[in-house]
This record gives sequence, C-alpha cells and structure tokens, in this order.
Amino acid sequence: MRPIDVESTRRDFPILERSVHGRPLVYLDNAATTQKPRAVIDALVHYYENYNANIHRGIHALSEEATARYEEARLKVARFIGAPAAETIVFTRNTTESINLVAHAWGRKHLRAGDEVLLTVMEHHSNLIPWQLLARDTGAKLRFVDIDDEGRLLWDDFERLLGPRTRLVSVTHMSNVLGTINPIKDIAELAHSRGALVLVDGAQSVPHLPVDAPALDCDFMAFSAHKMLGPTGVGVLYARPGLLEEMDPFLGGGEMISRVLLEESTWNDVPWKFEAGTPNIADVIAFGAAIEYLQGLGMDAVRAHEMEITAYALEALSAVPQVTIYGPTDAEARGGVVSFNLGDLHPHDLGTVLDRFGVAVRAGHHCAQPLMRRLGCVATARASFYVYNRLEEVDTLVEGVREADRFFGHVATRA
Ligand SMILES: Cc1ncc(COP(=O)(O)O)c(C=O)c1O
Repeated sequence: MRPIDVESTRRDFPILERSVHGRPLVYLDNAATTQKPRAVIDALVHYYENYNANIHRGIHALSEEATARYEEARLKVARFIGAPAAETIVFTRNTTESINLVAHAWGRKHLRAGDEVLLTVMEHHSNLIPWQLLARDTGAKLRFVDIDDEGRLLWDDFERLLGPRTRLVSVTHMSNVLGTINPIKDIAELAHSRGALVLVDGAQSVPHLPVDAPALDCDFMAFSAHKMLGPTGVGVLYARPGLLEEMDPFLGGGEMISRVLLEESTWNDVPWKFEAGTPNIADVIAFGAAIEYLQGLGMDAVRAHEMEITAYALEALSAVPQVTIYGPTDAEARGGVVSFNLGDLHPHDLGTVLDRFGVAVRAGHHCAQPLMRRLGCVATARASFYVYNRLEEVDTLVEGVREADRFFGHVATRA
C-alpha cells in the first residue's frame, strides 16, 4: 500500500487554497460533504462544453457519447463496491432517496401489519423517517437496537430483537456521529439465517473504507457521491442481483417504461426501471471521475490516513480539560469522525469560535436526534477528516477549542 501524499493530494483541490477570516481554510466537515478535486470539476465542465445531450434517447453523436459516459460511470461504481454487474446499480439523488426507494418499492410490496423493521438508535434521520412513513402506511413495527457507553451496537440486543416477524434490518455501516463501524457481515449472516433482508446505509463507509458489498452479503446499500469527492445530486442504490427485478417502480415517467398504453404500462429493464425522467447526467459522469481519483489513491491508503489522523485527534482533544468525546476510544473501531463537547458550551458557540480560526466543523444534532437523546446531549461539535487533511490541521482545531474554553470559560462546567 502506498500511503497518501497529503501535500500533493491537496494541490488537486482548488478550494483548499482559499482562506477564511484571514486564516487558511481547515476543512473538517467532510462527513457533511467533501471538497472536489480538479478532475471532477473538469469532468463537469468537459461534459457541458463538449457533449451535453440527453441520454438513452437520441441517435445523434452527442447523445451517444453522453450515454456511453453515463453508463461507464455506472460500471465504475459497480466495480468500486465489488458489485457483480452494472445493472445492480441505480442512480438516485442521494442516500436519502436510495433508502426511500427501497421503502417504497420493496417495503410497500412486502411488508404487512405486524411485520418488523429492525433499526438502531444510531441511525441518521435518512434511515429512520422512510421506515416511520412505511410503518404508518403498512402497520409494520419498528424496533431499535441500543448501544453501549462507547457507542457500539449491543449484539445481545440485536439477537434478541431479530424476531420471526423481522423482514428487514436497516443499519448504518458507519455512524456519522460516533464514527462506530458496525459488523455488517455478522449482522447480515444472522439476519439472513432468520429470513430478514439487510439494507446498509453506506453514506459514511463507502467514501472512507474499502467496501465490497457482495462480500458483506448485504441486500441493499445506499450512498452519496458528494461525500466521496463527487458532485452533489447523485446517490447510489446497490441491490443484490434479482432484487430490483421483483420490486415495483418508485417514480413513474419517461425512461422507466417499456410499453405505454393509456390505461397501463410495462416497465423498462433494471436498473433503468428506477431512473424515471432525465437523470443527473453531468454529475453522474463527474462522479465517475471521483471514483477514479479515489482508486488512484487506493481505499486502503484512504483508510490508513484517516485512522492516523483520527487517532491523533482523539489524543489531542482528550488532552483538553472538559472535552467529552463520543464513540469508541479505539481508532481502529471507528472512522474519521470525532464528535465532542466542551463542558456545557453549546456546540454552535464552539463552532463560531472555530470558524474564526478558519476551521469548518459541524455543530448540531447531525440529523440524529434520537442518538443525541441517547447520549444525553442536545448537540455536539463534529470534526470529520478526509484524504487532504493534515495532522497540523488537528492542531489548529485544538487551538480553537482551547480559545473557546478561555473565552466562554465562565459557562463551561469545570470538571
Ligand atoms: C450515515 C448517513 N446516512 C445518510 C445520510 C444522508 O445523506 P444525503 O444527505 O446525501 O442523502 C448521511 C448524511 O450526512 C449520513 O451521514
């Protein structure tokens, strides 16, 4: 494995040259969305300047080129997660839409009153609300696996709640708050042995870890291009071969049909049956460039870099009096996300001070309000890392946290 050369990687990201409030930008909000390398920006511009056309329709050269590049991107995505065929990949708008697609097209077909969907208390709202809506419409019930004090799933709880009526286990691969990496292969093995399918929310794992969806044996996997160097507006749903075929359509309209009569219609082959209307052509093609970029770095190297910087951040932050860090203490058990609080200081105040240092972090509930309640806080600050982050940027983060402590010291609770 060739380690990531952070300095040369940084030169590929034009935005990293800018300053914020007179200080160099320290971008530590990668779990929300990542920055884009020149190759991705160029792919977008190249499409619009050279072969902008609608796909799957025209017989003219531009349309053929655009269709070919769009379908090539699908193949790149499939290979990136070890999927056996491009047809297992549906392009959506984001992780949220991918999960909603499954809730509608699979859930409404297969779930009956009294059936159960097993989730965990660490899910992002995107992997919670679609199931709440589904439960409301079908009479299905939701069950939730709890976590221990370090933010790891309670395996006994999982085994106990996985019952004869569980039809689906829908779980995040990596928590966007705690960083916890969940044992998907073990979860899938047990779920399958009891007749349930498994959906993996890969929004935080696919960008940061080497992920092989078939090896994990999941049935569905959802993730977003914008969290892995790609453009906004593109999401992915992977489905185990055969599953998409038996699902009902999600959205109806152009492209997803085969034959249309006034009263009824038949559907296109998968995956196009799930891509109604003109898709996000330019962004899908540029997503292909993002995947090539990540493959150039190597996902093992991405993971190794993030483990190093996370371990460094865990140590540096825990040396600051009054800082509470959430999630596993061991960098190997977690991804590059560190959520923390400084005494009783509201994370928004902390985030505002950090912003003056040029440091961009997230402050809030991170779309995981039930998890916040479970942790006994209303919000956290969150630093999240990626391929272009330097160890010294963690030093700037810690400098800002110490300054916030000095500035707001009177409200923070002394240990
Ligand atoms: C674990 C997890 N799931 C789902 C999502 C939703 O992703 P998107 O907003 O791209 O749909 C996020 C985004 O932060 C996330 O971290």
